[in-house]
Amino acid sequence: MRIAVFCSGSGTNLEAMVNAQKRGDIKAEIALVVSDVAGCFALKRAEKAGIKALVVERKKFSSGKEFESEILKSLQKEKVDLVVLAGYMRLLSADFIKEYRNKILNIHPALLPSFKGTHGIKDALEYGVKITGPTVHFVTEDMDAGPIILQSAVTVAEDDTEETLAESIHKEEHKIYPRAVQLFIEGRLKIEGSRVRIL
Ligand code: GRF
Repeated sequence: MRIAVFCSGSGTNLEAMVNAQKRGDIKAEIALVVSDVAGCFALKRAEKAGIKALVVERKKFSSGKEFESEILKSLQKEKVDLVVLAGYMRLLSADFIKEYRNKILNIHPALLPSFKGTHGIKDALEYGVKITGPTVHFVTEDMDAGPIILQSAVTVAEDDTEETLAESIHKEEHKIYPRAVQLFIEGRLKIEGSRVRIL
């Protein structure tokens, strides 16, 4: 199986995947890293790991359709079977999702369906929840709403700030995301409506 990891930022989840693959916990090839942000740190991590990287900037294309078809072309060329979104800060179109139906995973830094959107950590902290944590889910047309694969609970400490809470959540992300990817690789994720049964 061949995986593409999509990133826009730091890429710590990408690195967790690379490490998991080195340990043998992910039995697949990370064939490609795709980024929409030239110069982001995830690209440096890809380079260090010797993974082919592709930068596709939205501003270089006159439409979202052309932008995405450039990405799709590379995925097809690299024979990618699974798309892993890891801090990719763009919504995929319905057409793109159709091409990789039930083959796109995402990680969100809050316990979905609570605190969807780009500020999941801050929103949960400000709301005052006592437990939060990351969610790995299949990507569907609705943002942060696809079938949930794995979640992990993180207790919010009295003195947590957004930064310290983010650190605790990221630690959990780096455990559950590679685990979810390997479950996918093993064909153990069965989608039944909005639920995912782990076989
Ligand atoms: C993570 O917090 C993830 O939940 C969210 O974006 C962040 C990516 O972090 N989707 P990194 O780039 O993997 O370090």
